Amino acid sequence: MIKPNTHYSELKSSYLFYNIAQKTKAYTDIHPDAHLLRLGIGDVTLPLCDTVIKALHSAVDDQAQKETFQGYMPECGADFFKQAVQSYYKRRSVSLSEDEIFVSSGASDELGDILDLFDDDNTVLIIEPAYPAYVDANIIAGHRIIHLPSDISDDFAPYPDESIDADIIYLCSPNNPTGATFTKEKLAQWVKYANERSAVIIFDAAYEAFIEDEEIPHSIFEIDGSRTCAIEISSLSKTAGFTGTRCGYTVIPMELERAGMKFNSMWVRSRTTKTNGVSYILQRGAAAVFTDEGIAQIKKNIEIYKSNAKVIMSALEKCGIRYCGGKNAPYIWLECPDDLESWELFSLLLEKAQIVGTPGAGFGKCGERYFRLSMFGDVSDTAEAARRIEALFKAE
Ligand code: MLT
Repeated sequence: MIKPNTHYSELKSSYLFYNIAQKTKAYTDIHPDAHLLRLGIGDVTLPLCDTVIKALHSAVDDQAQKETFQGYMPECGADFFKQAVQSYYKRRSVSLSEDEIFVSSGASDELGDILDLFDDDNTVLIIEPAYPAYVDANIIAGHRIIHLPSDISDDFAPYPDESIDADIIYLCSPNNPTGATFTKEKLAQWVKYANERSAVIIFDAAYEAFIEDEEIPHSIFEIDGSRTCAIEISSLSKTAGFTGTRCGYTVIPMELERAGMKFNSMWVRSRTTKTNGVSYILQRGAAAVFTDEGIAQIKKNIEIYKSNAKVIMSALEKCGIRYCGGKNAPYIWLECPDDLESWELFSLLLEKAQIVGTPGAGFGKCGERYFRLSMFGDVSDTAEAARRIEALFKAE
């Protein structure tokens, strides 16, 4: 008899952002003329930068000529794409070989797919509040999950707890949803902890481009010892507005080996079997992000998102609402005012201010009574959201 993956029955009935989209749709069905201020899912609102658009157009033209036409691409990534990523890491003195870089369709796909490299019989440590796909993908994979709560007392970026044994550890810095960052010193502790236990860190670097404090590492590979214990997954979604375009990259060092098996070779085997890579056109567009021109242009967009953050932070301060994030990350993580639970605040903001945010409880139990606002919204909508937050919560 066929046996479905029964772990699906252990999942919550729907995924957080799908759930929010459904609730939002229910509201707009009743209020079709409402203009919603969307600060929920971290979806970008600014168009791709000029350098990327030119590269995409030119790659489309390549596909129109016999001499430049490209068929299947190498499954693990085109040389020009790998070299572009390699040069990006070099800017921070991280040396990678081309074979250590893999193209992907984005971090969210990869964070789940990478679990192919691990046996079912593994324990996963997830620091919460956490991006919900970490938990869901590991439930589907049948892994045991240890939920490690973090809070404001450890700046939502805890040190490892020596009493906990885990095989796979998820770290996300800058963090989704809290905006917290791990210092070099904290990451070094996690690297030591992982190496001592032969564990593997899956480092989610999707928000690295938002870091403005010089001392915060952008990559786990800035930390000594990480090449024997870490995989890094990143994406151009937030860095360069690729949420709808889709392209990312994963780094697996040659030294990463457990039980005599090299994770890099295993991932080559997985990719060459399960994908035909990412299209030539997209890889050309993505490679353009890492040129000097591309980097200067994406920085301008990031500055605009950061100005959104300043507007919201100022409104929260006027209301006396405590928050973190917003500086080195595109998310603001706030304490729910008026003793509200996070889904109560979601409903209140939707109904009274037409603001869509994300309830903290969706990121794990310890996210209850917190709320996340995304800074990727439209600039005038974000300013309007700030005014409405003040109107709702500022004491007279
Ligand atoms: C988020 O809002 O947490 C992210 O945008 C979701 C994602 O990247 O899939």
